[in-house]
Amino acid sequence: PVYPKAASYPEYAQLVNRENAQVDRRLFVDEAIYQAELQQIFARSWLFLAHESQIPSPGDFIRTSMGEDDVIVVRQRDGSVKAFLNSCPHRGNRVCMVDAGTKARGFICNYHGWSFGIDGGLRGTDGKVYEKDQAFEKAQIGLTPVAQIDSYKGLIFGTFDPAAPSLLDFFGPFTFYLDIMLDNDEGGTEFIGGAIKSEIDCNWKFPAENFVGDILHAFWTHQSGAQAILGAGVDLGKRYDELAFQASVYGHGIETNLDKVGNTRTLGYPELVDYVYDLSEKASARLGDLRARAIGAISSCTVFPNFSFLPGQNTFRVWHPRGPGKIELVVWTLVNKNAPEHIKEAYRKGVMMTFSPGGVFEMDDGENWEYSTRVNQGFVTRQQPLHYALGLESTDLERELPGHIHKGSMNDANQRLFYTRWAEFMEHDNWTDLQNGDTAPPQKSVKAAE
Ligand code: FES
Ligand code: FE
Repeated sequence: PVYPKAASYPEYAQLVNRENAQVDRRLFVDEAIYQAELQQIFARSWLFLAHESQIPSPGDFIRTSMGEDDVIVVRQRDGSVKAFLNSCPHRGNRVCMVDAGTKARGFICNYHGWSFGIDGGLRGTDGKVYEKDQAFEKAQIGLTPVAQIDSYKGLIFGTFDPAAPSLLDFFGPFTFYLDIMLDNDEGGTEFIGGAIKSEIDCNWKFPAENFVGDILHAFWTHQSGAQAILGAGVDLGKRYDELAFQASVYGHGIETNLDKVGNTRTLGYPELVDYVYDLSEKASARLGDLRARAIGAISSCTVFPNFSFLPGQNTFRVWHPRGPGKIELVVWTLVNKNAPEHIKEAYRKGVMMTFSPGGVFEMDDGENWEYSTRVNQGFVTRQQPLHYALGLESTDLERELPGHIHKGSMNDANQRLFYTRWAEFMEHDNWTDLQNGDTAPPQKSVKAAE
């Protein structure tokens, strides 16, 4: 396809009206904006690649994508992890066709037989023609590496941008919240089972903004699913008291309600509830009381731009963009390595039952996001802005927690900050500006939160 010429990116950033909390619907349907997102957001952000547990040994690999770029993530002989574009430098063919594998010694392209080591370097060709060609220099024609790779407590991320700040700086103090899931037990975490893949005809931002802070929909969208599993609807609980809050740093966001192990209950296995109560008690020495209570609380999280999870339900997922109106969704189940086998199995089945293509909650959500996307094909419809003003008057809580804190989990605050971050990526070309905008964490003491 011939894409329309991109307008200047700052112009796109103005489609988010931060004062009136309005978002222009072209963000969800326009091909030129989508192409600008691939460049400004996906080619620069740190993106989730794999869990360390998925590729434990040298030669173990996973095929995934960063934006629309197909990549291979491979464990190296020295134990480090590298990632490369999954595209042959000869005529561009995919070099690795399968989703994952173990102990690979290399990758051979199907088209003309060029072969590559697990370090991405070109090892050989067909052995007859190219080696005899003087203009051919093997060493310089390897698979294109992903510029930076790093991992945080078991999760491996990569960025195409050599100028991007460290992974820790990209998270900022949001690690305080990531640790609720990733560091609540001394043995660390792992992904179990395989990945569950599906496609949804929606723009990638609808699920990302849903997980960044839209608990509101659960009380309507998921009522019937919750009835079926729990015999009771989703409980409004203490959504407005001091136990409920939203936190946001650099567009990453979590919303939570600390009063019960609500998320875990919705998986339908009572033994998981007992497990999480025990875990929560033990974890307060590691994480402090507040975060220990959040382990199974009803809450959801998005790491900007497109990696999300639900504490307590333990579903981890990436919303891979596949055009303005489509995503490929990949879902895993995260468990503590030290958890008993029957608990791991209960999590696996629970996630399948709720957050897989056949799961009750995934289906509830997918249909809503599809229509929220599709209606914007209408010319007149897409002239009408969307409303993100719930809680616009609410201010940061006094509480000394890292990031922008808003009281009550029924609030569009995190979603406003998600789109503010989106706009920052679209308008700024350098990381100094990107890390010092409105979504940057306010200066305050983190210690007091413990
Ligand atoms: Fe890969 Fe020709 S396209 S060897
Ligand atoms: Fe939902």
